[in-house]
Parts: sequence; structure tokens; C-alpha cells
Amino acid sequence: MNLKASNITFSYNKKRQILNDVSLSLKSNEIIGLMGDSGSGKSTLCKILAGHITNYKGEVTLDGNKISDKGFYPVQLIFQHPEKTMNPKWKMNKVLNESWAPPQELKDTFGLKDQWLTRWPSELSGGELQRFSILRALNPKTKFIIADEISTMLDAVTQVQIWEKLINHAKANNIGILAVSHDPDLLEVICDDILYFDEINNL
Ligand SMILES: Nc1ncnc2c1ncn2[C@@H]1O[C@H](COP(=O)(O)OP(=O)(O)O)[C@@H](O)[C@H]1O
Ligand SMILES: [Mg+2]
Repeated sequence: MNLKASNITFSYNKKRQILNDVSLSLKSNEIIGLMGDSGSGKSTLCKILAGHITNYKGEVTLDGNKISDKGFYPVQLIFQHPEKTMNPKWKMNKVLNESWAPPQELKDTFGLKDQWLTRWPSELSGGELQRFSILRALNPKTKFIIADEISTMLDAVTQVQIWEKLINHAKANNIGILAVSHDPDLLEVICDDILYFDEINNL
């Protein structure tokens, strides 16, 4: 499959334009890095690709078709701060099963411990929470993952572990990943190709 953003232009308000005529293309099974300065608009572009922002100019398509906002959205966004995407009043078991029920094998792969399932989000570390976010995003209907600084908050060992598992799963299931980071060393290791945000954003 092919996820394509064509001529995306967007601003939150009249004061500043964030994106101008941005285009990119991502194929299943590909891991493409997106590198750029903080505050430049990377997360904004991620939200557009994943359907969280819809009032932009231009087009996002999957194999040439507009993506329906009805039903499951095949482009899933994983954020830097997992706790912000979780209901603090839900135990982790409910948080995990909100999108789908991941099989035990996958929970084991990502090192999810059973004892975490009965805790509140506030009772887990960032790395532990991020494993839940990733599992939630791996719904079998997911075709592309937009990984927006997903390992920035993690220590080096956890970062490598999580990326290794995610990439293995993506390759085995023909999922494409856009990996957003300001860390060139990380992107060099995990990506097939790297895009530079200031080169694709025509401000
Ligand atoms: N909801 C919002 N309303 C207004 N401005 C925003 C909003 N979200 C982000 N911004 C601004 O848009 C710019 C780009 O932000 P962002 O896409 O998060 O950049 P990056 O992910 O590259 O750090 C920043 O200046 C930020 O302050
Ligand atoms: Mg960001």
C-alpha cells in the first residue's frame, strides 16, 4: 500500500503558517525517518497524516483513495507522551483493550507484565506506558504507523528494545512506519531512508 500526502498546507491561525505545500509518500514495509527542529511542525504533519487534524489544504490518500473517517483509521499515531492518550481513570487492562485485544504472544513480545494490567496509568513508567501505546496501535487493521518521537523519553536500552520489537512486527505484517525524531543517530539505525522536514516544507 501507499500512504501519500500531497501539497499539504496548514496553519493553526493567521499569525503563522506551519506547513506549506508538503508532500511525502510512504510504502508498506518501509521505515522512513522524518527529521527536523523542534517547533517546526512535524507533530502537526503527523496529526494530519493520522486524521487528527482535518482542516488542511491538500490531500492524504491510501492507494489513491481518501481515507474514510468512519470506522477504524488505518493510519495510527503514537505520541511522545503516552500518558496523554490514556484515560487516567481507567486501569491499564481497559486502556490496552480500547482498540483491540492483543494476543498474549504480542504482549509477551513487548514485555508487558500481567501485574501492570491492574494498575492505573500513573503507576507505570514512561517506557512501560509506551509499550501499551504501541500495542494499541498494532490493531490488525493498521496499515501505517506514525511514530512521533515515541522513544524520546526513554533510556537508551529501552529505546533500542522497543524499536526492535516494533520494526520486527511491522516488517512481518507489512506495516509502513514514519519515524519522527530529532535524533539523527537513531534514524540512521532504524530507517530505510530519511526525509528532512525543512526540505519538504516549502515555507
Ligand atoms: N493547537 C495548536 N494551536 C496553535 N499553535 C500550535 C498548536 N499546536 C502546535 N502549535 C504550534 O505549531 C508549531 C509547530 O508545532 P509542532 O507541530 O508540535 O512542531 P514539532 O513537532 O516539529 O516540534 C509550534 O510553534 C507550536 O507552538
Ligand atoms: Mg513534535
